[in-house]
Order: sequence, then C-alpha cells, then structure tokens
Amino acid sequence: MEALKGRDLLGVADLNASEIQELLELAAQLKAGKLNLRCNKVLGLLFYKASTRTRVSFSVAMYQLGGQVIDLNPNVTQVGRGEPVVDTARVLDRYLDILAIRTFEQKQLETFAEYAQIPIINALTDLEHPCQVLADLLTVQECFGELAGATLTYLGDGNNVAHSLLLGCALVGMNVRIATPANYQPDNRIVEQARRIADGKTEVLITDDPVTAAKGAQVLYTDVWASMGQEALADERIPIFQPYQVNQELLSHADPEAIVLHCLPAHRGEEITDEVMEGKRSRLWDQAENRMHAQKALLVSLLGAD
Ligand code: CP
Ligand code: NVA
Repeated sequence: MEALKGRDLLGVADLNASEIQELLELAAQLKAGKLNLRCNKVLGLLFYKASTRTRVSFSVAMYQLGGQVIDLNPNVTQVGRGEPVVDTARVLDRYLDILAIRTFEQKQLETFAEYAQIPIINALTDLEHPCQVLADLLTVQECFGELAGATLTYLGDGNNVAHSLLLGCALVGMNVRIATPANYQPDNRIVEQARRIADGKTEVLITDDPVTAAKGAQVLYTDVWASMGQEALADERIPIFQPYQVNQELLSHADPEAIVLHCLPAHRGEEITDEVMEGKRSRLWDQAENRMHAQKALLVSLLGAD
C-alpha cells in the first residue's frame, strides 16, 4: 500500500477509512497465505511497559517477512538512564528502519516521531492502542463479513483501548457504545473526534448504563479495570466496575450472534467471567492471533515490500 509508506501510526485516526479497509484486506490475504511478501528491514521495539502479544506478534510478523527485530529494553539502553528522547530518536533513526514504542505519555511518542524520520508505531500509550484495534476490526470483519452498520459495545474503563475503539469504529462506519462508571468516561477530546468522524451517520454513545449499551450489540468488548501504571487503584475500582462485568447475564441482552472480545491480558472474574471467556461467543484467541496478521500488513505498508 504505497499511500502509507514512510508514515507514522501514532493513533487510529492517522489512518482514513479506506486505508483501514485496505490494511484489513491485506491482513486477510496474508493470513490466508495468498501473498508471500518480503521486507528485509529492521524493526526496533522500545517498550517501557510489559507486553506479551504486541512484542511477540510484531517480532514474528517481522521475521516472517524476512526482516530482523531488535529489543531496545529501556532497562539496558541509555534512554532508560535519562538520555533525552530528542537525542535517542535521532540516533535510532540512523540505525533502524522502523520503531514501535510502548510508553506512558502520548507526548513522548510524538517527540520520537518529530525527531526520527523513520516510521514510528504506537504499540500502546496511556491514550491509544491503535495496533490492537486494527486486529479487533479484522476479527469483527471475519465474523460478520462487513463492518459498516455493526454495533460494538465496550464496557469498563474509558482507557486507551476504549479511545482507539471509538475512533476505529467511527472511521469504518460501525456504531460504538462505551459504558463506564460516571467518573471513568473516555477523554472528551477523543469522544468529540469520534463524533466528528461519525458525522451523525453512525452512533457514538457514552453511557453509564451497561444493559442499555449491550442491547442488540454484535460485539461486546472489555478490558482490565486498571491499566498498566494504575495497579495501586485496582482494588478500590472492583466494586465500582462490578456492574460492567461481561458475564452471561449481560451477554443475554446482546444480539444472539454477538461475539465477545478482550484485548488481553484479562483478570478473570473481574471484567469478564471464566464462563464467557471460555464460552461459545468468545473470539479472544482469534483476536489475539489477528494482532500478528494486522501488524504484518501494517509493517509492509509503512516500509514497502522488497
Ligand atoms: N493486548 C496487548 O497489547 O497485549 P500485550 O500487553 O501482551 O502486548
Ligand atoms: N488498557 C490496558 C491494555 C493492555 C493491553 C493497559 O493499558 O494496561
């Protein structure tokens, strides 16, 4: 996909609707083994937070394309000892072909993007998780054939995943409903951005009522109630978030064919029950697999194939 070559992915809305559709189509073809693209380039992973799926799926995707991966663990690189980002970014730019960063502040990611010419990928910040949502949309498309018109309901904390879902769903013409406790709503700037994208043509609903939000939805989605960096708040949040748990009762209000997604890792028995995770509506493992296919499509689009 020539249009994406050399660009950054700092948030979902760096892509337009047709670019997302093309990425999903490419991911589906790669997954089906219909294309054997090569990209002998070097990907750096700079992760300030833990990761299983993002780290491994990016690495395997790059290896399968014939490329290499370098793990720039901040604990053993100078940036972790305080070397300025503006210096690190310009140096890494001279070595690497592409850099995926998992960090806290979106601003830090933006500084990397400003000072490095190579494509910078948001591998999760406190604000967004765009790579996750590409895989989520691929999963919904596989299950329902078409994204436009489907309704996704996210229940839980108005966090990074909720933000990227708001923007991603609005871009592809899905209805998106976010049900959170009153003080845990998504960032209003993101909600407004999603509403501008939806332009009154699809639903963008923010509510504190989980049952109304779940009614008739094709996708129920949840994530942890305390994200990485918020561990100290986890216990006090449990009673506040309990009504938003994705369980069999809540699922009974959704479309009978509804699927359940979770970005993982999950806290079983908190935001989702064992029964639903292991139940017949769960598509969690396909969703996790799709991280690899979606990111392979992303890598080859940002870098160009050999
Ligand atoms: N969903 C996700 O990003 O998982 P990891 O934190 O394991 O990368
Ligand atoms: N919201 C979670 C997602 C983890 C993949 C977090 O930021 O910890």
